[in-house]
Formats: sequence, structure tokens, C-alpha cells
Amino acid sequence: MARALREVSRVSLAPEHCMASSIARPLFLAASFLSLLVVACESKAPPPAPAEATPPPAPAAIEVTPALLEKGEAEFTMRCAPCHGPDGRGDGPSSATLDPKPRNFHDSEWQTSVSDEHIKNAIVYGGAAVGKSPQMPSNPDLAADETTVVSLRAYIRTLGEAP
Ligand code: HEC
Repeated sequence: MARALREVSRVSLAPEHCMASSIARPLFLAASFLSLLVVACESKAPPPAPAEATPPPAPAAIEVTPALLEKGEAEFTMRCAPCHGPDGRGDGPSSATLDPKPRNFHDSEWQTSVSDEHIKNAIVYGGAAVGKSPQMPSNPDLAADETTVVSLRAYIRTLGEAP
């Protein structure tokens, strides 16, 4: 194969061969085809993140600003505080009957043990999807709302900074 490629490139580098005889023409075509293949392969450098297959990772795309954190807090108060508590300590009014109890987000051990992706999946797909209690509900309306998911996660992360 390597030798064939060398042959081919020699032929393609010497145009007089290509034009000189009828034997050279098919060779020239073959060389063109092969170099096209090579170009195609080279342009297919391994993508670090296959953009088409999976959605781009959230943290890089959406910047955490004070405004985003404010949004996160508002969303949290509406959607999460009834169970997780107004301050995210796992002691909201609806937590009384829950077992296990909603996560206390001030638990720094928990904070360091979970990835951003894990938190996102818990929020969007619910507790059962991440091997946790199915009482942690899913939020299917957020599946296509990356900004809200990131705002909630960023807010939860700030709670971890104040034990
Ligand atoms: C109906 C009550 C309820 C509501 C509402 C709720 N959660 Fe939960 N959540 C829970 C419970 C219960 C758990 C604990 C699951 C466990 O430990 O098995 C939990 C756990 C979690 C976890 C931790 C998962 C883990 O791997 O430890 C995250 C993150 C979370 N909730 C985020 C949220 C966010 C964000 C919202 C609002 C969008 C929300 N939850 C709304 C009940 C709730």
C-alpha cells in the first residue's frame, strides 16, 4: 500500500507521464482518486466532541453571570424549594413525607462527588435516571432549555460554597 501510494504520487507529480501515454491516464485518475481519499481522511481529524451526535456540553457554552444565578435562584424557589427547602437544605414543606430526604445542597462532600452532567441529568430526567429516589421528579420541559438547567445547577453549586 505504501509503495503503491509512492508510485501514485510519483505519477501525479510528473504531469508529462500523465499526458504522454494512454496507460498513464487511468493511473492519473487513480492517483487523483487516491489523493481525494487521503484529503477526505485527513479532513476527518478525530473531533474531541462530536457536535452532531451529542449536544454541546453546557458549562462551556453558557457563561455563569450574576444574572444567570439570579434566574437559577428564582427557578429553584419555584420548582425545587417545596422539597429541597428555600435555602436548599433539604427541608422544604413537602420533604416531611419523603424518604430518602431531598438532597441538602450545602453538603460539600456531595458537591465534590457529583459531576455537572450528573446534576443536569437528575434535574431533567429525575432521580430514578441517576440511580436515586424516583421521588426526585423529572423536568422534561427543561430538556431543551439548557439555560435554565445551567442556571439551576450554578445556583446549586453556589449553595455548596456556604456549608
Ligand atoms: C417532590 C420533591 C422534589 C422536588 C420538587 C425536587 N426534588 Fe430534587 N430530590 C428530591 C429527593 C427526594 C431527592 C433525593 C433522592 C435520593 O437521595 O435518592 C432529590 C435529589 C436531588 C438531587 C441529587 C441527586 C443525587 O444524585 O444525589 C438533585 C441534584 C436535585 N434533587 C435537584 C433538584 C432540582 C434542581 C429541583 C428543582 C428543579 C428539584 N430537585 C426538585 C425531591 C425533589
